[in-house]
Amino acid sequence: MSNSLPPDAAVPAVALSAPVPPVPRARIAAARVLVVGDVMLDRYWFGDVNRISPEAPVPVVHVQRKEDRLGGAANVARNAAALGAQAGLLCVVGHDEPGERIVELLGESRVTAFLERDPELLTTIKLRVLSRQQQLLRVDFENSPTHEVLSACLARFETLLPQHDVILMSDYAKGGLTHVTQMIANAKRAGKPVLVDPKGDDWDRYRGATLITPNRAELREVVGRWSSEEDLLARVTTLRESLDLSALLLTRSEEGMTLFTAGRVVHTQADAREVYDVSGAGDTVIATVATMLGAGVPLVDSIAYANRAAGIVVGKLGTATVDYNELFA
Ligand SMILES: Nc1ncnc2c1ncn2[C@@H]1O[C@H](COP(=O)(O)OP(=O)(O)OP(=O)(O)O)[C@@H](O)[C@H]1O
Ligand SMILES: [Mg+2]
Repeated sequence: MSNSLPPDAAVPAVALSAPVPPVPRARIAAARVLVVGDVMLDRYWFGDVNRISPEAPVPVVHVQRKEDRLGGAANVARNAAALGAQAGLLCVVGHDEPGERIVELLGESRVTAFLERDPELLTTIKLRVLSRQQQLLRVDFENSPTHEVLSACLARFETLLPQHDVILMSDYAKGGLTHVTQMIANAKRAGKPVLVDPKGDDWDRYRGATLITPNRAELREVVGRWSSEEDLLARVTTLRESLDLSALLLTRSEEGMTLFTAGRVVHTQADAREVYDVSGAGDTVIATVATMLGAGVPLVDSIAYANRAAGIVVGKLGTATVDYNELFA
């Protein structure tokens, strides 16, 4: 990890100091993280294109291979489990084929699934059709869970709260976090830190969260475009105070990440050696922070580990998780 600031840094940001020491495996194994949010299935169909359809001017893909992966909140939970934490996942899935597939994949993972089934829900699935590494088409299925199921989810949350150390809200704007404000309030009352990966421009619903982890585009949508690091700090501070957030972690892709807390800014430069696949890096970041907080690691050190984990995960094709040995190698 490099400790220098971005070249345009104009705020008195503190750069992270020397690499942080390994956290004992047993401490991570004791961390109980509850991920709540929108789960989805990432489906890939790979095949060859040898002709154009006689029906319309589109390529015909002869599918040769299929692959399904857990996405959204399930990928976040998978990341926490890969590090060695006890990861629970509370979410809604439908009674359809993608829903069954998610149940199956979760069964094969180390994640403890707390699933609410909604017979009326189309489980969120993103189908990509690819040929020669090229994505030809993406097909999405999704709708919102019903009121009844969301209420059941909130009730389930209450019962799961005492059994977990850290709560993580993974919002992909699919409706699974309709009751997020109340969940945050209840978790705070129970003394548990709440981490939020936000979506959309209404952050009032995340009021009171401990840490929120937007990327640059997500933050820009809420505070507008900043002109300098100083301006960024001013905008973030106003937002943080008005929403009663303890901290905000801005993930900045190739520029690394910046943590804003009351009276302190800590910047960490990106740690990637080779970048293959950046999708899912945000999931790895928040899952790592949650795991470390659950293991009793201070926030600033947790961020350093998260940055290291993100640097590893962007260098991977396929499996977007980092395990204990890789992180502390
Ligand atoms: N191109 C890159 N080079 C180096 N590191 C990267 C790159 N992209 C991402 N990272 C690492 O991953 C972290 C999270 O990435 P980013 O800010 O893109 O999150 P994100 O947009 O939420 O990701 P996603 O939504 O695709 O999961 C960054 O803070 C950085 O540590
Ligand atoms: Mg993200």
